[in-house]
Amino acid sequence: MPYVVTETCIKCKLTDCVEVCPVDCFYEGANMLVIHPDECIDCGVCEPECPIEAIKPDTEGDAAEKWLEMNRQYSEMWPNITRKKDPPADSDDWREVPDKFEKHFDPGPGSGT
Ligand code: SF4
Ligand code: F3S
Repeated sequence: MPYVVTETCIKCKLTDCVEVCPVDCFYEGANMLVIHPDECIDCGVCEPECPIEAIKPDTEGDAAEKWLEMNRQYSEMWPNITRKKDPPADSDDWREVPDKFEKHFDPGPGSGT
């Protein structure tokens, strides 16, 4: 039962979460992060670190399975990120925007750390 990053992260990308993960299992895309579900040890430490509640246990809600598969797929393509970096300049503007995965997801990789 790993934790997953949901679409709330898209274009906000605050990266507070990466600093606390004991197994460094966050991966960076161009505009969001994901968790590798096979590496996550389900410690739950990252969940309260995200100021906008983008991280959820994969048992929560009907959409959990979707995010689990999405996190698995992209964590195998994107670079590992272990250090906090500055969020996008317009990060705050995207906090309440709905349907970000459908409209704003960028499948390209981030730069990692
Ligand atoms: Fe890392 Fe723990 Fe969060 Fe899993 S639950 S991503 S191991 S901090
Ligand atoms: Fe995203 Fe929250 Fe981490 S916005 S990068 S899941 S701290």
